[in-house]
Amino acid sequence: MEIFEDTFRPVSYSRTTVSELMIPAYANFGGKIHGGMLLSLMDKVAYACASKHSSSYCVTVSVEGAEFLQPVEVGEMVSLFASVNHVGRSSMLVGIKVVAENFLAGMVKHTNTSYFTMVAKGENGLPRTVPRLGLENRDDVRRFLEAIKRKQIRELYKSELNNAKTNLEIERELPKLEQERCRLLY
Ligand SMILES: CC(C)(COP(=O)(O)OP(=O)(O)OC[C@H]1O[C@@H](n2cnc3c(N)ncnc32)[C@H](O)[C@@H]1OP(=O)(O)O)[C@@H](O)C(=O)NCCC(=O)NCCS
Repeated sequence: MEIFEDTFRPVSYSRTTVSELMIPAYANFGGKIHGGMLLSLMDKVAYACASKHSSSYCVTVSVEGAEFLQPVEVGEMVSLFASVNHVGRSSMLVGIKVVAENFLAGMVKHTNTSYFTMVAKGENGLPRTVPRLGLENRDDVRRFLEAIKRKQIRELYKSELNNAKTNLEIERELPKLEQERCRLLY
C-alpha cells in the first residue's frame, strides 16, 4: 500500500462537483425535497472528494452545518461543490456548497454549506495517513485556517456541552420551565 507521509496533493486534484435533477420520487408529503435526500447526496460527494484525495476507502465521522434554510423544489437542479479544506493525519474536512437552480424562474439559490469530516482507512480497517494538502491560492489558505478555528471551537463546544450535562441541577433549574411551553405532569 502506498505511504503518503511526505506526499501532497493540491486541492484541485480532488475538487468534485455533482449535479442531480430533483424528481418527484425525492419529495416529501409537502411536495418539497426530503432533507435526507440532500444529506445523502452530500455524503456521496464528500466520500468521492476524500477518497480521491487519499486514494483510500473513507468513512464519515461527523457532519457540521446541515441547516437547510430554503426548501428545494421538484424540478430544480441541485449542484454540490466539494473540496478538501483541511487534512489532519487520517482525517479530511470536506467543505460542500449546495446550490439549487430553478430553470423556469431563472434563479439560483444557495441552500447550505456543510462540512463533513471523513477519515481514510487502510486495508486493516485502521485510520491511515493521508497526503498533505497543497494550497493553491488565498482561498485555499483561508479555508485551511478556518478549518483549524472550527476544530478549536468544536472542541470548546463539546467540553461546554459535557459540563452543562454533568453540572445540571434539576431542582435549581426548575423555575426556568415557567417560561417554556411545557407542563410538569408529575
Ligand atoms: C472515526 C473513527 C475512524 C475513529 O477511529 P479511532 O480508532 O478512534 O482513531 P483516532 O482516534 O486515531 O481518530 C482518527 C481520526 O478521526 C478523527 N476523529 C475521531 N473522532 C472524531 C470526531 N468525533 N469528530 C471529528 N474527527 C474525529 C481524529 O481526530 C483523527 O484525526 P487525525 O488522524 O487527522 O488526527 C472510528 O470511530 C470509526 O470508524 N467510526 C465509524 C465511522 C463510520 O462507520 N461512519 C459511517 C457512519 S454510518
